[in-house]
Amino acid sequence: GAPVEVDISKLEDGQMVRVEWRGKPVWVVRRSEAILEELSGHDGQLRDPSSEEPQQPEYAQNKYRSVKPEIFLAVGICTHLGCSPTYLPDSFSEQVSGVSAGFFCPCHGSKFDMAGRVFSGVPAPLNLVVPPHQFLDDHTIIVG
Ligand code: FES
Repeated sequence: GAPVEVDISKLEDGQMVRVEWRGKPVWVVRRSEAILEELSGHDGQLRDPSSEEPQQPEYAQNKYRSVKPEIFLAVGICTHLGCSPTYLPDSFSEQVSGVSAGFFCPCHGSKFDMAGRVFSGVPAPLNLVVPPHQFLDDHTIIVG
């Protein structure tokens, strides 16, 4: 599949754009300062907080799992059996205490934080996959 260009110039805090790359949904989310701060606070609830499991690009192996902290990309496919998780910008706390936003898979209840890191005690075995991507400039990402 051809690389896909994503314009993030109009993406506001908390917003997500969805693009298709190689037949897969790819999410691009702008994370607020508050969300970035929150990512440090729940490592103990995560299965693989440092993304040490395979299949992660090098730039996903940091606290934010991203090239730039504020911009997060993930393949929008649950690592359990492939359903598409729902983005919950501000209601995740109802599902996982102490986390204000994240992704919830309706199929079997897997939960991921705003870096796509899977919580313990759910069926999904791995963090959401970060697709290969690079920044062409401040407003343009190339996926693939
Ligand atoms: Fe997402 Fe099973 S496919 S929890």
